[in-house]
Amino acid sequence: MKILVTGGAGYIGSHTVRQLVRSGAEVTVLDSMIYGHPAAVEGSGAKLVKGDLGDASIVYPLLVREKFDAVVHFAAFIQVGESVQDPLKYYENNIAKPLTLLRAMLLAGTRKFVFSSTAATYGVPSQMPIPETEKQDPINPYGGSKLMLEKVCRDCEKAYGLKSVFLRYFNASGSAGDGTIGEDHDPETHLIPVILQAIKGERPGITVFGTDYDTPDGTCVRDYVHVDDLADAHLRALDYLMKGGKTECFNLGTGKGLSVKEIIDAAEKVTGKKAPVTYGERREGDPPYLIADATKARDILGWVPKYQDALQIVETAWQWANGPHGGHY
Ligand code: UFG
Repeated sequence: MKILVTGGAGYIGSHTVRQLVRSGAEVTVLDSMIYGHPAAVEGSGAKLVKGDLGDASIVYPLLVREKFDAVVHFAAFIQVGESVQDPLKYYENNIAKPLTLLRAMLLAGTRKFVFSSTAATYGVPSQMPIPETEKQDPINPYGGSKLMLEKVCRDCEKAYGLKSVFLRYFNASGSAGDGTIGEDHDPETHLIPVILQAIKGERPGITVFGTDYDTPDGTCVRDYVHVDDLADAHLRALDYLMKGGKTECFNLGTGKGLSVKEIIDAAEKVTGKKAPVTYGERREGDPPYLIADATKARDILGWVPKYQDALQIVETAWQWANGPHGGHY
């Protein structure tokens, strides 16, 4: 299989690239390197093309020349708060630019597309755990931009026969166990790396955003799903499309909810150190619970996450934080 991976130098993208190469695929990564890291791809066996997916002068010739069997599309901006402050940045990058990519796919005759969507497309869900049939009503432009691209892809199936899989991630976490690739966002806002950075003394501490939620311990509950399990779902989605599967969406989560306090406890157990914690106000836009019903991914893709335990997930994140890059490329 010849696969193009956009955003393959990012967090989930680089873990997927590694698994794809190991499965025998010929992989090309297209990454603007605005947030991506060359070191996340170097040595993976994938070819790296630096370029913007909205740049037709790069994307058209690349796709027409290489005639990829499928495109796995990660490249996107992902900060919810920033998307509220600067929605056009998100609509330009997460919707307008992928249109160039989709057009190039049509020109090249590539009609299989795996797309990183998100639990944020559900907004404030009416049921927990959340099945894919839940109404999609995002409460921020980030989630809105992902939902719009899902809609574009559905129209492209009807009009051009382009088949897509939308993978709606819950809370991506952990790292490939060997510590060589991992999560490195700038700025880092995600709970697990923030706690580990605080424990390492790289930041003064961690603030728990809200302790008065209607949850067992008052802090928000999330479904933390390991990045290698997410990567595995992409390989399964490709296999599904190669076998003639139609456009489908899948939630990717473990189905288990963990509170912010439970994650802090896990981090303290794994590291053997106390986290410098303060308790603060709620962060705007945080729903109390987000837990996936991922039955559909299990039934159709045969996807069962291997990491079911917070300690194991945090342990791999800690290996990355103490690996050759020290948690930063
Ligand atoms: N949290 C803190 N303190 C911090 C950071 C996070 O208390 O310093 C809390 C948050 O309030 C939240 C939980 O930890 O309750 C997880 O927060 P993250 O920022 O790690 O993740 P989110 O659940 O906010 O966001 C994730 C993805 C988004 C995606 C969203 C979908 O990172 O890209 O899930 O719901 F949009």
